[in-house]
Amino acid sequence: MQLKNPKSINAAITAVGMYVPEKIYDNKYFESIVETNDEWIVTRTGIKERRILENGATSDLATGACEDLFTTTNVKPDEIDIIIVATISPDMFFPSTACLVQEKIGAKNAWGFDLSAACSGFLFALQTGASFISSGNYKKVLVIGADKMSCITDYTDRNNCILFGDAASAVLLEPTEDLNYGIKDSLLHIDGAGKEALYMKGGGSLNPASHETVDKKMHYIYQDGKAVFKVAVKGMADIAWEIMEKNGLKSPDIAYLVPHQANLRIINATAQRMGLSQDKVMVNIGKYGNTTAATIPLCLTEYYREGKVKKGDNLILAAFGAGYTWGSMYLTWSID
Ligand code: UT7
Repeated sequence: MQLKNPKSINAAITAVGMYVPEKIYDNKYFESIVETNDEWIVTRTGIKERRILENGATSDLATGACEDLFTTTNVKPDEIDIIIVATISPDMFFPSTACLVQEKIGAKNAWGFDLSAACSGFLFALQTGASFISSGNYKKVLVIGADKMSCITDYTDRNNCILFGDAASAVLLEPTEDLNYGIKDSLLHIDGAGKEALYMKGGGSLNPASHETVDKKMHYIYQDGKAVFKVAVKGMADIAWEIMEKNGLKSPDIAYLVPHQANLRIINATAQRMGLSQDKVMVNIGKYGNTTAATIPLCLTEYYREGKVKKGDNLILAAFGAGYTWGSMYLTWSID
């Protein structure tokens, strides 16, 4: 394959796909299992319902999203060069979920890997995929955000169980030499100071699975919601603002903010900081809750399919999550 000057190649999203399971847990359901109510959940989070995968694993969600994507493009699975799966709920420690997806979709010429960055996972994976494309060495990269959050959710913990749902969404990255389109900039960060504010304590090499770790519920999400909320509000708003400033963008230049969907109040604070009205913010948290790595591509897919995103639209993607991890990305939409 001929190497090209990286500076002359942008990575552009050329196809999108999504998969959400059929089973719905609405707020009424949670009223029946923990002490909560619809009003509290909607006012504090914006969530009304989430999807739950009853049978199957994260690779099945991811495969569903890829199959949906392939119905919309002439690209065939055996043309895919790389598969990157952003997830914190892989089917197993190893092999990677990317391997499982590769086999299920028949991407027989691909290599790939999983990427763990929690709620910022899709953003980190998209930048990674874009770098492979810009290198000139790869032409087709599948970037997937997939999480089966229900498998690590404690449904007796009202602080957390109302927040999460299961979903997957995928995008195809291809090169474009028209630098007016595609991924133009990103700002990404990690800070391990947040490691104990949102994490899963057990199951890894620090606290391997044992009767004790199960008894102590160490295989579920632990979150200090209030602490994370405080840093997430500032972190996501600041990073979204910073990428606008860096690229000389004013609010009228931006068609949409595409925020990670963790809490409607965090989303609104970010939009406010950017000077964007509600109609310029992609929001579907009401229907799906927090699906971790899947939220951003799920928004992109739905809004594009509803005809709300047009070729040439400038988008700012922004996320904040466990780690801490956070970041923003500036891209110009390239699908007609
Ligand atoms: O996606 C990765 C990053 N994660 C986030 O960005 C999540 C950030 N955190 C949040 O979104 C919010 O902190 C939550 C939605 C998790 C919680 O909202 P909050 O406004 O921070 O509530 P809180 O934790 O301060 O709790 C307020 C009250 C407490 O009662 P007291 O102590 O004031 O009597 C909680 O016990 O609400 C109580 N509470 C509930 N009440 C009804 C907590 N969960 C529930 C519930 N139903 N499900």
